[in-house]
Amino acid sequence: MKVLAISGSLRPDSYNTKLLRAAEELLPPEVDFVLYQGVKAVPPYDEGDDDVQVAPMSVAAVRSAIGEADAVLFATPEYNASIPGSLKNALDWVSRPLATNTLRNKPVAVIGASTGAFGAVWAQADLRKVLAAIGARVVEGEVAVGHAPTRFDETGRLVDESLREQLQETVDALLAEVEARALVPA
Ligand SMILES: Cc1cc2nc3c(=O)[nH]c(=O)nc-3n(C[C@H](O)[C@H](O)[C@H](O)COP(=O)(O)O)c2cc1C
Repeated sequence: MKVLAISGSLRPDSYNTKLLRAAEELLPPEVDFVLYQGVKAVPPYDEGDDDVQVAPMSVAAVRSAIGEADAVLFATPEYNASIPGSLKNALDWVSRPLATNTLRNKPVAVIGASTGAFGAVWAQADLRKVLAAIGARVVEGEVAVGHAPTRFDETGRLVDESLREQLQETVDALLAEVEARALVPA
C-alpha cells in the first residue's frame, strides 16, 4: 500500500511536514510512505488557458503521484484562517477535469499544525470541504497541533502523547478506508 503525504507548507522547517513525518513513524512497515515535494513548482491555475492545454510537467507530476497512491495524507497550516494559496492552487489543477481527476474516490485524511492555540482547525475544515468538493473520500479524524514549536523535540519528533494517539487513530482510519474500498467490487 502506498500513502502519499502532501504538506501545505513549503518551508523546509515546517511543523506540518514534521507532523507528516510523525505519521510516517506510525504506519505499519509494509506501507510505502512518500512525501510529495513538488507543490512549489505548480504554476498559477488559469482556467482560460490551462484547461485546454497539455498540463505542465509539475501538474502532471502531482496528478500522477496522487493517482499512484492508495491514499493521501494532507497536513495544512492555517494562513489567515484558511489553507495556503499554493495548496489550493495545486488542488484546483488536480481537480480538472472533475469527472476523472485523480483525487476522485481517493481516501484522504487531513491533519494540521499552527503556531497559534488552535492547530489550524479552520484550515483543516476548509481543506476537508475542498477535498470533498473534488470528490475525494475524506476520512473522519482530526489532529490539531496548536503551539507547534512546543510539540516537537529538536529531532522533529512529536512529543505530545495525546496528539500521537490522535495521529495514530487518523492514520488507522485512513488505512481502514483503503482496505474497505479494496473489498468493494469494481
Ligand atoms: C500568511 C500567514 C498567515 C497566518 N495565519 C494564521 C492563522 O490564521 N491562524 C494561525 O493559527 N496561524 C497563522 N499563521 C501562523 C502559522 O500557523 C505558522 O507560520 C506555522 O508555523 C505555519 O506552518 P508550517 O510550520 O508548517 O510552515 C500564519 C502564518 C502566515 C505566514
